[in-house]
Amino acid sequence: MKRNIAIDGPSAAGKSTIARLCAKELGYKHLDTGAMYRCVGYLSKLKGIAVDDELALADMMDQMKLDVDSAGHIYLNNQEVSSEIRTNEMSMRASDVSKLKMVRERLVTLQQQIASAGGYVLDGRDIGTVVLPDAMLKIFLVASVKARAQRRIKEYIEKNIPFDEQEVIRDIEVRDYQDTHRENSPLKKAADAIEIDTSDMSIEEVIDEIRGLLKTKSNEE
Ligand code: DC
Repeated sequence: MKRNIAIDGPSAAGKSTIARLCAKELGYKHLDTGAMYRCVGYLSKLKGIAVDDELALADMMDQMKLDVDSAGHIYLNNQEVSSEIRTNEMSMRASDVSKLKMVRERLVTLQQQIASAGGYVLDGRDIGTVVLPDAMLKIFLVASVKARAQRRIKEYIEKNIPFDEQEVIRDIEVRDYQDTHRENSPLKKAADAIEIDTSDMSIEEVIDEIRGLLKTKSNEE
């Protein structure tokens, strides 16, 4: 059975793009775990539930149906929400709900069920440390705040999503702080993860490096 690849790192470090392209090139499937936390944040907003109302969120998640297809599209209660969950507001709401142990436990279980088939690239914050501690290859992607803000802004322009530059920078810093300081499964590099600083690298260069690392790992096994 093909084993799994874990890609972790802070927000806007390019994880989802890299994971999606890596999966495509290497013949793996992609699971964007951040999109799952975004769906919880998005649905709670639609239902008027506060991001720290654990009981109401648990009820909501009891009824929530999350599906992903092999192309990486995410369906919330049978509806495709890939673009609705990408706004700055949903980034913050996702980070807020991801602090809750109850939310994490449910989503981690779902992620592990999906990945148990093997042959997945999962990207997130706790993949190498919690979701897939036995992943064949663990990558930790980092980049400067400046480089990450520039990439987010480019994405917003391409997708026609309104933004404010200072707000994008501030949100990246706030999310970095929240994601690394939360009590439950904070963003942390796994001891056996390989760090790649993508600040001055193109997507192709990062993918080339991962391809090389995967080859080395496969030869070792
Ligand atoms: O990767 P992203 O920006 O789409 O993730 C949105 C938020 O979800 C992020 O700020 C923290 C949370 N998250 C998490 O806690 N664990 C994951 N595996 C993925 C995302």
